[in-house]
Amino acid sequence: MPKFTTPIAPFPASRPRRQRRTAFTRDLVREHHLSASDLIWPVFVHEGAQRIEAVPSMPGVSRLSLDALLPLARECAALGIPAIALFPVIDPSLKTPDGAEALNPDGLVPRIVQALKQQVPGLGVLTDVALDPYTSHGQDGVLDANGRILNDETVAILKQQALVQAAAGVDIVAPSDMMDGRVGAIRQALEAAGLIDTQIMAYSAKYASAFYGPFRDAAESPPQFGDRRTYQMDYANADEALREVALDIDEGADIVMVKPAFGYQDLIWRVKEKFRYPVACYNVSGEYAMVKAAAQNGWLDEKQVVLEMLTGFRRSGADIILTYWAQQAARWLNG
Ligand code: PBG
Repeated sequence: MPKFTTPIAPFPASRPRRQRRTAFTRDLVREHHLSASDLIWPVFVHEGAQRIEAVPSMPGVSRLSLDALLPLARECAALGIPAIALFPVIDPSLKTPDGAEALNPDGLVPRIVQALKQQVPGLGVLTDVALDPYTSHGQDGVLDANGRILNDETVAILKQQALVQAAAGVDIVAPSDMMDGRVGAIRQALEAAGLIDTQIMAYSAKYASAFYGPFRDAAESPPQFGDRRTYQMDYANADEALREVALDIDEGADIVMVKPAFGYQDLIWRVKEKFRYPVACYNVSGEYAMVKAAAQNGWLDEKQVVLEMLTGFRRSGADIILTYWAQQAARWLNG
């Protein structure tokens, strides 16, 4: 008796290697595809003119002023990348305990959104809804006297932040801080303001991960005390991620996200299987830095590894991948 029932005839009637013999047949039977249209490019922005600052822990990534960003944004559009995600690096003199600069309609992010929507109208723009770039203590929320991160008080500010970004014309707001109830609060605020077309990409299952280390260098936003484990998820949990995703869908998210991506592909798969909803994953800074470092040492072939990694996210069920390799990968895929 055969141990497993297969839907194909047993060897030698079936010789699976026939499908792998030539490039054309491998092309024909390939199940999952990666293309530029699956990618979102996360980019660090700051004030200034022709200000381009390399991020040491993320070789190939720079913080950019608007004038330096515009040509690259046009290039993204030309490469077929649908959207870019803005991450601001805020001048330390503007940081306060309550992150009030996040609500400035003339602040860095709203100005860049307006310029991008005017000058590169075909390119989608996402903005991060979170306070950590704006708070003097680097946490994602406002604090009580004991340094606890307050949920509902923070959500009240996030609502206003999302409204400022949406009023500036952003296409997608992306709440990233894991406060409870933020997606519903933002959705209601947008509806009440008549901003019914603004999409919400929710960082639904965002884990407290050491793989964000290089991002915190890039954004100059590390927490000044403690860590983020009272709001970001424990990496030992998976069922909890499904509950977080369910809540965000009920609250009005258009797209849900799993973050990090590499090492969390079981979650991408489970979220896709359970909800059949648009799923994004974030190929985070630490995943980028590891591959870059190995490639720079000649230990890995960057192009081959990146295409394998990103295709793996698609195979796991991701519709959308945020990756610092977006432009490079699009060039590889188009070329
Ligand atoms: C903060 C934010 C972080 C990342 C995206 N948005 C850092 C954090 O939560 O600590 C990480 C992205 C990356 O590592 O590439 N709102």
